[in-house]
Amino acid sequence: MNNNGGTECGYERYECSDELISVENVTLDYSSKSGSERALVNINMNIFPGEFVCVLGSSGCGKSTLLKILAGFIPPTSGNVKLEGNLVKGTDWHRGVVFQNPPLYEWLTVSQNVAFGPKMRKVPKKEYAPLVVDYLKKVGLEDFADKRIYELSGGMKQRVSIARALINNPEILLMDEPFGALDALTRENIQDLTRKIWWNNRKTIFLITHDVEEALLLGSRILVMSKHPGTIINDIRVHFSERVIEEGSKHVKFSEEFYNKRQEILKLINDE
Ligand SMILES: Nc1ncnc2c1ncn2[C@@H]1O[C@H](COP(=O)(O)OP(=O)(O)O)[C@@H](O)[C@H]1O
Ligand SMILES: [Mg+2]
Repeated sequence: MNNNGGTECGYERYECSDELISVENVTLDYSSKSGSERALVNINMNIFPGEFVCVLGSSGCGKSTLLKILAGFIPPTSGNVKLEGNLVKGTDWHRGVVFQNPPLYEWLTVSQNVAFGPKMRKVPKKEYAPLVVDYLKKVGLEDFADKRIYELSGGMKQRVSIARALINNPEILLMDEPFGALDALTRENIQDLTRKIWWNNRKTIFLITHDVEEALLLGSRILVMSKHPGTIINDIRVHFSERVIEEGSKHVKFSEEFYNKRQEILKLINDE
């Protein structure tokens, strides 16, 4: 689905290119003892390179299910997901995932956790070692390389988890409510870091949240989902995140435009 009507990406920073991810008529039924339950119905969307797509929807509407399908953790019941035209058939390094509570190896050091992906892919150590240093710098953890995970705060763990996903140079970063468990100050800090990584590294990001302001301050595009069973009911292009980068401040959130967009989206969710 694209507000611009066609396949153009509508995104100034990039030459309009082909979609990175396309989701066609995806439906997902969970089966249980009492029968089957439809979690997603008729999902159609494209994600273009360089977009920061934020997904908003009420609890239980199927956001995490959609992310798990994009990641390749679960196959859709019907329909398909393609990455650069190729069917997604399972998990691989092309799609990096960041969860609310990052599953890190508690007994390994920060560096060892970040090095995990390249090591598993049998990248030679002399190639990945400098990358580990680079990515720790990107997330502001260069001084904590040798700390063990259990010694870190929640915010630091989330930074490790972002570095660990980025080091594999994924085509897209899939983030499921990544800031949900953090205190307000840390959350803002890591939101800023994520925006910077998106902008400076030209990453494509798909981020789930239930916080409208977070979606407006980060996304270049917001997808609003209906209540259970979830489908996409709106696809809205926004430019506040770019303004935050350009202006070096979040003043834009006090603008009338921001207020109106926020009300418009809240109404969409509440009217559901
Ligand atoms: N593994 C599962 N088995 C059965 N039902 C599930 C499973 N995971 C999620 N569901 C159901 O699917 C629906 C969507 O869940 P989820 O994708 O986690 O929603 P959200 O992330 O938007 O809160 C919910 O009704 C939930 O109970
Ligand atoms: Mg969820």
